[in-house]
Amino acid sequence: MKLCTAMVFVLTLAASSLAIAAEETLKEPLAIPLGTQASANKDPVAAGLPEAEIVIKFSHVVARDTPKGLAAEKFKQLAEQNTNGRVRVDIFPNSLLYKDNEEFEALQNGSVQMLAPSLSKFGHIGVREFELFDLPYIFPNREVLHRVMDGEAGRSLFKKLSSKGLTGLAYWDNGFKQMSSNQPMQKVTDLNGLKVRIQSSKVLEAQMKALGMKPQVMPFSEVYPALQQGIVDGAENPVSNFYTQKMHEVQKHLTISNHGYLGYAVIVNKKFWDELPADIRNALNQAMKETTDFEREIAENANEDALTKVLASNTTEVYTLSPKERTTWQLALLPVYQEFENVIGKYLIKSVAYTAQQVLKDQKEADRKNKASAKKKNQN
Ligand code: LMR
Repeated sequence: MKLCTAMVFVLTLAASSLAIAAEETLKEPLAIPLGTQASANKDPVAAGLPEAEIVIKFSHVVARDTPKGLAAEKFKQLAEQNTNGRVRVDIFPNSLLYKDNEEFEALQNGSVQMLAPSLSKFGHIGVREFELFDLPYIFPNREVLHRVMDGEAGRSLFKKLSSKGLTGLAYWDNGFKQMSSNQPMQKVTDLNGLKVRIQSSKVLEAQMKALGMKPQVMPFSEVYPALQQGIVDGAENPVSNFYTQKMHEVQKHLTISNHGYLGYAVIVNKKFWDELPADIRNALNQAMKETTDFEREIAENANEDALTKVLASNTTEVYTLSPKERTTWQLALLPVYQEFENVIGKYLIKSVAYTAQQVLKDQKEADRKNKASAKKKNQN
């Protein structure tokens, strides 16, 4: 992709990115009774339950009251119910068992059976194509994102996991990322020289460098202390992660930039999955399907809810980039597309642009139909 083509591409996407902030609204997360987690680890026989034939250890790095944390509990509930207790799911949140990249190894060697790592962490295990999701400002809204995940592009990425001993079951959302630090960040030059924590993605490294920042890869569990001790100046996160990790206590400024996306792939150990009895696998697939609908619904609301709490905490000043400022951020980030188009694959990048056009076309068609039917009603 030539630089000018990339520019047209990103600016086309930018036209609809205004919708992102509105889409990020978040209602109260659905309540799942606390204690579900603790009961997972009780002796089932003593608790009057049949002993499970199969135990799925599900490890993750975020807090319980995040979209991923709540969805893990929903999956536990549905999986145990759908299999009449033949399967038990034990959840280990907040990096309790493993940190970011350690958890991949634990899954591959069978120490745990299920994870939901951020899509930005798959490059580290050698599947660089997943870094498509890290390209700055690539997804103008969730509709485009979900069509890409649930379509051919998402399926082709999952196929690449089998050579790593992994099977992809679902894509879960978090949301669009915002930039935080201890100084106001409006113009690109405001970011110059800031040390920023990133996940282990080469695209994210290039993104921060393009903004003049100094990126430092660090596991999620170490971000709060690193910010507190000034090892790094800032970070990028969806607001739900920012708030639930209490980063608002150690970051004076948060800029709503929506400059990138953070989502997850739910993955299992391939051998474990392939060896499950077919009826169990079907029941778990059904539980995962229902959980994914639930997860995407709560994720849509979670970031706005967290933003309200950040604002109420009065510790962090929140600034939203103006459309003009966002365009200058987008222009500064264009070279990242050119740098990674061969690593990620031009066809994958183009498939996002194509999907964005299709979504726009479908929306126009739906508007046209709505207007026509309203007109017909008025005439009658
Ligand atoms: C991060 O490391 O910032 C995120 O991947 C954490 C998560 O899983 O949401």
